[in-house]
This record gives sequence, C-alpha cells and structure tokens, in this order.
Amino acid sequence: MLLLQKIKLNNFLSHSETEIDFKDKFSLAITGRSGSGKSGIVDSIIFALYGKGRVDNRFLIKKGAKVAKVQLTIVDDNITYRVERTVDNKGKNSLEIHIKDGDKPWKSLQVSGIKNIQEYLEKQILKCSYTLFVNSVCSPQNSTDSFVDQPASAKKDLLLQIASVDNLEEYLKKTKEKLSEFETEKSNNESNSLIINQSLAIDRQTAANLPTLETQEQKIKAELEIINTNLKQITSQLANLDFKINSKAEKERELNVTKQSIQMIDLEINTLKDEIKKINELDITAMRVEVGDIDQLKSELNGLKVVEKLANEWNVKMMEVMKERPVTRDFDKEIAEINKQLIDLMAYPQEQCPQCGHKFAPKTVDSTSKRLESVLVDTNRARIDYNRGLEEYETKVKALGERLDIDSGKIKALEVDIYNKEQKLVNINNIINTRDLKRITYQEKITSKEAGKSEKESKIMALTAEIQTLITEIMGSEDIKKQEVELNNKKNEIEVELRNVIGSLSLARTAVTRAVLAEEQLKTIEGSTQELNTKIEALILLKEAMGINGIKAIIIDYLTVSLEEKINEVLSKLSDFRIRIDTQKTSADGEKQIEGLFITVINDMGEELDFNSYSGGERVKIAMSIGEGLSSLQKFGWRVWDETITGLDPQMIDSFMEVLSKLKENINQIILISHIPQIQDCIEEKLEIKKINGNSQIVTN
Ligand SMILES: Nc1ncnc2c1ncn2[C@@H]1O[C@H](COP(=O)(O)OP(=O)(O)OP(=O)(O)O)[C@@H](O)[C@H]1O
Ligand SMILES: [Mg+2]
Repeated sequence: MLLLQKIKLNNFLSHSETEIDFKDKFSLAITGRSGSGKSGIVDSIIFALYGKGRVDNRFLIKKGAKVAKVQLTIVDDNITYRVERTVDNKGKNSLEIHIKDGDKPWKSLQVSGIKNIQEYLEKQILKCSYTLFVNSVCSPQNSTDSFVDQPASAKKDLLLQIASVDNLEEYLKKTKEKLSEFETEKSNNESNSLIINQSLAIDRQTAANLPTLETQEQKIKAELEIINTNLKQITSQLANLDFKINSKAEKERELNVTKQSIQMIDLEINTLKDEIKKINELDITAMRVEVGDIDQLKSELNGLKVVEKLANEWNVKMMEVMKERPVTRDFDKEIAEINKQLIDLMAYPQEQCPQCGHKFAPKTVDSTSKRLESVLVDTNRARIDYNRGLEEYETKVKALGERLDIDSGKIKALEVDIYNKEQKLVNINNIINTRDLKRITYQEKITSKEAGKSEKESKIMALTAEIQTLITEIMGSEDIKKQEVELNNKKNEIEVELRNVIGSLSLARTAVTRAVLAEEQLKTIEGSTQELNTKIEALILLKEAMGINGIKAIIIDYLTVSLEEKINEVLSKLSDFRIRIDTQKTSADGEKQIEGLFITVINDMGEELDFNSYSGGERVKIAMSIGEGLSSLQKFGWRVWDETITGLDPQMIDSFMEVLSKLKENINQIILISHIPQIQDCIEEKLEIKKINGNSQIVTN
C-alpha cells in the first residue's frame, strides 16, 4: 500500500516554504480562508507525481522566484520513494527519484531522461496514470479531466491500467508483428524448399549416370593407352625412317660437292697445262730485241742532262748580272725642267740703286738660281755615271752569250722509257732463270691433282651405291606413315569421346555434391520450419490471449464486477441510485458491438438516464462513488478531496459524512478541503493555512 510520508514546497504557487509530515494513519481537514493556499498543497502532490498543474508549469513558480520545487516522499511497504520535481522560469522541468529500501542508504533511480523517469513512476511505482489519479485518489478542485466524461474506450483503458495490463495492446502489436515475421519466414522456407526440391530432382537424375560414365571413362582410357603404345612404336620407326631420309639427303649433298670438286680439279689441271704451254711458247729473242736500244737511250739522256746543267749555270750568272744594271732615269726631262725654272727666275723684276742706277736681283732669286745651277751640274754628272754603268752591263751580257734551249719533255720521256726497258730486262732474265723449275713444278701439281680426282671418282661411285640402298629402304617404309595417320585419327576420335565423358562426369559429380548440399539445406529448412511452427503456435495462443476475448476480457469482466460493486456500495449510502457497468454496447445503427466501459446510472425509479441528465448534486455523488470505486481497486492508502462536496443539501451532507466515517475505517490517510463547517467538524485533525504578506503558511495551534 502506498502512503504519503512528507511534502515540501519551495516557491510553489503562494507557498515559499511549506513542509508537512504525514503520519501513517490520519484524517486531516485543511482549513483557511479562500485564497490562503489550501489547494496549493493538493496541487503540489499532483505536480510532484505528474508534472501537471492548474496552469502552465512556469506560472506555478511563486511570484518573484525563479524556480519552484516540490519534494514528495511516499512509502510502499518497505520501500521509500522521494520524488523531486522543479520548474524554472524558462519552463525547464526536472524530475529525480531517489529510492530507499528499508534502512539502506538512498539511491538514485537508474533511469535517465525525464520521459523515462515519468514512465517508471507511473507504470512501476504508482501503477496509475494522471487521468485515473485525478479521478480516483486525488480529486483536485475544479477538475477538468472527469472520468465520466472520458470516451468508453478510454474508460476501459483506465480500468486496464489498474490491472497493469494497459500495455497489452502494445504487446499484441508486437506479437502480431512477430507472428507475421515468422509466417513470412515459414512461407520463404516453403518456397525455398520447393525450389531446392525441384533442382534436387534434376541433380539426382544427373547423379544416377555416374557409375555408367565412370565405366565408360575407364574403357576409353584403356583404348587410348593401347593407341598410345602403338603410336610410340610407330614414332620410333618413323624416327629411323627420318634418319635414313636425312642421311640420304646428306649423302646426296656430299655427292654433289664431290662432283663439283672434280670439276674444280679439271679446271686447275687445265690452267696448269696452259701455264706450261705458255712457258714453252715464250720468244726470248723477240723480247730482247724490244730492249736492245737501252744503251743508246741512256747516252742520249746524258747529253741532254749536260745541256740542262749548262743552261742552269747561265741562268744563275744572268741573275747576278741583272742585279748590277743601273736604275733607268729620264735625264733629258730632268735637265729641261731645271732650265725652265732658271729662265723663269731671270724674268723676275730687278731692283735699281737710286744713286748709281745699278740693277741687281733680289736676294731669294739669287740663292734659288745658285741652287738650281748646282742641281743642273749634279744631274749632268749623274747622266755620265749612268751611261757608263749601262755600257758595263751590256758588255757583261754580251760576254755571257746566247741562252741554251732545254727539252725537259724529252728528258722525262727518256727516263720513263729507260726505266720500263730496264724492268723488262730484269723480267726476261728472271724468266730465263725460272722457266725450267716452273715447268717441273706445274707438271708435279698436275700429277697430284689427277691423283685426287681419281680418288673423288671412287668416292662418287661409293656414295651413289649407298644412296641407292637408302632409296630402296625408304621406299619400303612408306606405309608406316599411313599407319601413323590412321592411329592419330583414331586417337583424336577417342579423345573427343573422353572429353565428352569427362564433361558429363564432372556434371554428375557436381550434381552429387549439390544433391548432398540440397538435402542438408532441406533438413535445415525443415528444422527451421518445425521451430517456426512451434513459435507460430505459441504466438497464436499469445495473440488470442491478448485479443478481445483473452486475458483482457477476463480482467475487464472481473474488474467491472468489483468496480460496480464498490461504486454501488458508496453510492447506495448517498442516494437511491445505482450504476451498471457494461463492456459492450450495440452501436446506434444496431449493426455492431462497440467495445468499451459503459457506465449507466439507474435512478430510484429504475430509469436509465445519461450522466449529464442528473443534477449537479447528483453528479457529485455519482462521481465521488465512481472515484472511490476506482481507488478501491488500486494500491493507494490515501485520498484527497478538494472541495469535491459542493452543491449538496444538508441531508446529503449528513449522508456524505456517514460515507466518510465508513471510508475512514478502510483508508489510512484522508485529506479533505471543504468550506462546509459540518464536514470540517467531522474531521478530528485540522491544518490551518494563512496567507501572510502574500506567503501561505501553516498556522499551528
Ligand atoms: N504563482 C503564484 N504566486 C503567488 N501566488 C499565487 C500564484 N498563483 C496563484 N497564486 C495565489 O495563491 C493563492 C492561493 O490559492 P489557492 O488556490 O491555494 O487558494 P485556496 O486556499 O485553495 O482558496 P479557495 O478556498 O478559494 O479554493 C491565491 O490567492 C492565488 O491568487
Ligand atoms: Mg482551493
């Protein structure tokens, strides 16, 4: 059972700092004037547990403060939970839960994220949503989330929350998803099996040929071996034949070479014979005549050489004489020029002495004429010397006599002629000295060549005979080649056959391997399908269990009965009404059944009217009974009513107090806020709130 232990408000609504410790069992009336801050305490409980308030959370912060904080401690048997929630003026919320197991130290809840912590709080600790809470355990002033106003399906969900089976829909969805996943897997397995079985049938058929193919392969290989042995023998015979053909060709080549060499020897013998003939036919006398004038030519050359020497000497002397010849000068022209200058001087004007009248030449004229006269004398003297030198030169030239003529071409021709004839003479002497020896040598060579020739002729005879033998032998081996061709053809045919068999064998073996693999695959698939079938069966059961007629239906049936009983128990104390709860209702068109939680109120006349058709006071009684009915099914040990009891007549107030005193027996902690004095009076403990300077405070008596 969940009980309140402590509440602490910081800057929450009109409370700056309010703290209340709750005993395990009490009935408390919170009193105070309107606006003193009573509802603030109830709201702080709702805020702490659900983060919701009468206004946007930011407006829950006490005017002038920055953060509002509520700390609520609740106890569930041995476990204490401390829920701390804050909101700051920027609208940022925080939520922390600390847990204490017995006397052990406090621990923070190991869940992160405000959403996840909230979910933990609602689902694991309270097992109650906000709507259910404000409609059962804690009824705030002016609640807008009335249970009776919720749609039938929502009402049913709220009831399911009580049994903690509100997650069934989610589980059902997951189950359906998993079921469909397994069914798809199963259908995949079936189609895979089909494909594998089809190819397996083909593979098995192919694999069945394996033994026949293996026998065939053996047989062909044996045949091939025999052919190969025969071919080997034929190959060695053919090698022998090849050898003979080659040696025949070799011998034929040798024969040709020998024949050619005989021709060469014949040519050489003929040449040698020609040489001997030439020696025999040589006319030495005629040759000597050709060189007979050699001495005459030599003396002629000597004569010409003497003249040549003299002419050279004359040339040297003439060169010497020519060096002595005076340089040619035109004396007549030089003298005429001087005379002309002298005459020009004489025509020059003379000066006269004024006393004696004597005429005399000017000083410069005088000196020039003297110099010219001296030059004239020198030139005449030079002409005399020149003429004398010229005479001497001509006398020497005369003394040298006439220049000698030399025929250089003839000298050169004579020298060549003499050289050639001297060479010929040496040659003639050489021939005379060697001709006998040459004749003997040539004859000897001829004899030796003829001996070589006869040797070659016998070789030709031998080779011809050998070649003939080989031709006969080769002719006899011709059909070996035919045999080889036939055998090779046969071999090719068998090899093609073998290749085909090997190909088929490979296919058959692959088929065997594939078949084994396919059988294994089929086994695996079969196993997996069996497993899937088991899972599917289980999931179908689970689906049904979570479906409309499953667990939910059982729980709803059980809860609706209990709820109906509880509600009517309270309601019977307050009125003559009673309620009926149905989980199904026929739709307006009568076509289908609608699932949900339908609460029908039946009045004292046995009439069924809509909830909203009842009066305000009647509705309060019904709502309070439903609230108590819902609370009784949960684990809360406390109830809070904030101005719930309004609009009742004095008689009804008495009835309410009667109900309250009955409830006090079963409910540990009761908090009640009411302005009705009788109600306040029937609660022993009072907690008065007063607002002093805008700050709500507890007034202790
Ligand atoms: N953020 C806030 N800061 C300070 N005071 C606030 C804030 N919000 C509301 N109040 C004031 O707090 C006061 C107490 O409100 P509360 O609802 O607790 O009063 P009450 O005692 O329940 O009154 P009633 O008996 O009329 O229901 C009111 O005067 C209200 O105007
Ligand atoms: Mg109030």
